[in-house]
Amino acid sequence: MGECRVCNAPLELFLSFGRMPLADRFVEPDRVADEYLYDLAVGACPACWMVQLVDVPPPEVVFPPDYPYRSSASQRMRDHFAAIASRLRRLARHSRDPFVVEIGCNDGAMLRTLARAGVRHLGVDPAAGAASTAHEYGVDVLEAFFDEEVAARVRDERGPADVVYAANTLCHIADLHGALRAIDGLLDDEGILVFEDPYLADIVTATAFDQFYDEHVYYFSLAAVGRMLEPCALEVFDVEHLDVHGGELRCYVGRKGRRPVSEAVRRTLAAEQVSRLVDLDGLYDFSRRVDAVRRQLRELLEELHAAGRRVVGYGATAKSATVTNACGIGPELVEFVCDSTPEKQGKLTPGAHIPVRPPEAFADPYPDYALLFAWNHAAEIRRKEHDFEAGGGRWVLYIPEVAISPP
Ligand code: TYD
Ligand code: ZN
Repeated sequence: MGECRVCNAPLELFLSFGRMPLADRFVEPDRVADEYLYDLAVGACPACWMVQLVDVPPPEVVFPPDYPYRSSASQRMRDHFAAIASRLRRLARHSRDPFVVEIGCNDGAMLRTLARAGVRHLGVDPAAGAASTAHEYGVDVLEAFFDEEVAARVRDERGPADVVYAANTLCHIADLHGALRAIDGLLDDEGILVFEDPYLADIVTATAFDQFYDEHVYYFSLAAVGRMLEPCALEVFDVEHLDVHGGELRCYVGRKGRRPVSEAVRRTLAAEQVSRLVDLDGLYDFSRRVDAVRRQLRELLEELHAAGRRVVGYGATAKSATVTNACGIGPELVEFVCDSTPEKQGKLTPGAHIPVRPPEAFADPYPDYALLFAWNHAAEIRRKEHDFEAGGGRWVLYIPEVAISPP
């Protein structure tokens, strides 16, 4: 059944999707027989309230050197990372010669701003392909998984960090205690950890079941984050709710008692109690809504297929691996998926084996319906693709519920 990775209590299983492929492992058309599969099941810990995957494939398998994800793939995220870079600079103001470390810097979407400004920095990331793009932007990257040994080496060679930043990375690290000890050892006494990850409250509210996949080991609530920081005597002193990646929680963490705890922290904790986020009945209720969306989406696509409509997918997101495989959506229902990432094009989506084609394929000619897998970029994409809608094309949405837009 599985134990909580944070406190060892037995997990309460509330969601199960069966055998799944790795969400970012796009396959060469002649290599489909070699796919790695694992059981995707989600549990909640009734003792510390950490929501987490029961089984997790090893990190070396999930994040190989050619990991195709690129943080800079949307204008929205480029703007987002430029803004937080300036913010982190201000947070490190107390230091004479600020040193900022980013865990999981990917292609340097955030650090390129600091590199340009001449701020002392280091990115740590095991993905060589993404790191080489970061290098091109003048970002200093250590190609490695971040752990206690790497953190100690960085501190020895470059001194303590004034700020450690991790975006969509901490929730990926199964050995959370190890990662936090490493951060604890790297941070200066006055240092600040800033991390942002998909927020459980947003996942539950929007029935965003596609946030569950191999890379997301943890689904943070502020209640659970507070508990996980305790062994290192760290605490969240401020929190922000972000409107990216479907809704994220950004936590500002320092050594316990060092800074006043903001009103936003108290408000967020209280809201989590009211919204039944730390409540098994609330999670079972969510699970039933997930089943309904899975069924309805599959039925809608079958109807469109029976009526002879062309449907293509938009955005070969990691999230879409859960949608296609959990709903049984393959190339017979969705002709291809278009995506702007060169590393994904010409390959097949994991498990479902839908061909990935470049964005130009979308208009050549436009399909009748586009299934919006990159729903977290809906505004940017619908603006860019307004000719599709103007010509009578319609979007198929499934977050927060199955819908056709315009109706
Ligand atoms: P992302 O939002 O990071 O989702 P996930 O974490 O689930 O992979 O990925 C967005 C994907 O959509 C990425 O592969 C790039 C692609 N994309 C396009 O093809 N066109 C676009 O206009 C945008 C914004 C994204
Ligand atoms: Zn626990």
